[in-house]
Amino acid sequence: MSAQKNPVSRESRPKFALDVDLADEARFIRSWIENPKIAGAIAPSGRFLARALAQCVNPAARGPIIELGPGTGPVTQALLARGVPRSKLVLVEYEKRFCSLLSKRFPGVKIVRGDAYNLADTLKGILTEAPSAIVSSLPLLTAPEDDRLTLLQQAFDLMGEGGRFVQFTYGVKSPVPTHVGENLHVRIQALAPIWLNIPPARIYIYRRAQGPTQFREPPDVLDVIWRRSRQAAREIRDEFKFIEARARRAANGRGR
Ligand SMILES: C[S@@+](CC[C@H](N)C(=O)[O-])C[C@H]1O[C@@H](n2cnc3c(N)ncnc32)[C@H](O)[C@@H]1O
Repeated sequence: MSAQKNPVSRESRPKFALDVDLADEARFIRSWIENPKIAGAIAPSGRFLARALAQCVNPAARGPIIELGPGTGPVTQALLARGVPRSKLVLVEYEKRFCSLLSKRFPGVKIVRGDAYNLADTLKGILTEAPSAIVSSLPLLTAPEDDRLTLLQQAFDLMGEGGRFVQFTYGVKSPVPTHVGENLHVRIQALAPIWLNIPPARIYIYRRAQGPTQFREPPDVLDVIWRRSRQAAREIRDEFKFIEARARRAANGRGR
């Protein structure tokens, strides 16, 4: 008997072709050069981080799963590979070029172009059920603290009880401030750092809590490595800036 092909696992299999990876890196660098606060990174998330984020959701849970800031789609790919049906996935992306790329790359997945910090308005009329989870790659640290808190509040209001807001950060602390106000009771879980990412990242899961927020950042014995990796990432970024400036000068005929 011939082996039955499984179309779901086939279509969601990650592409590791070097040309796709390099093209995505180039898209990201361009987006970062144009607007570093929106892009938040010079490269897409690596597959270990993407996979770890996808592990935080239950694909069988009732209701859609929202992804904020999908970029070129590494986390989307991992969510599909995890078994989230395309029909349950809603992507919210600000950058027009990423939206066009995502619609070509992930047919059947709903893509909403809009501002994730204004989540309630951006998703108005889109959802028919409360989402079970929101997975965010937004560069929260580049946004004012108030915007981050408002985002979390809106996310909880949309999801209702039991929903989880999953966020990664390159920072060493929770990107949603832990001294959150009385009205936003939140339970925070910090997962182990993902070292196999450039730069290393940590995932935080936020859920509604009964009482006031109480959270202590986990002690990080590898803090020094963490900080050095971040320094290395900054140096690479500066190098890219330098190369870009030189290329621009050369293009304008003033390169020599
Ligand atoms: C750090 S990148 C992450 C991209 C991708 N998820 C990954 O892991 O490689 C941040 C993404 O968030 C998007 N973004 C930033 N601000 C946004 C906003 N206010 N609303 C929606 N998307 C936003 C950026 O365009 C970018 O695609």
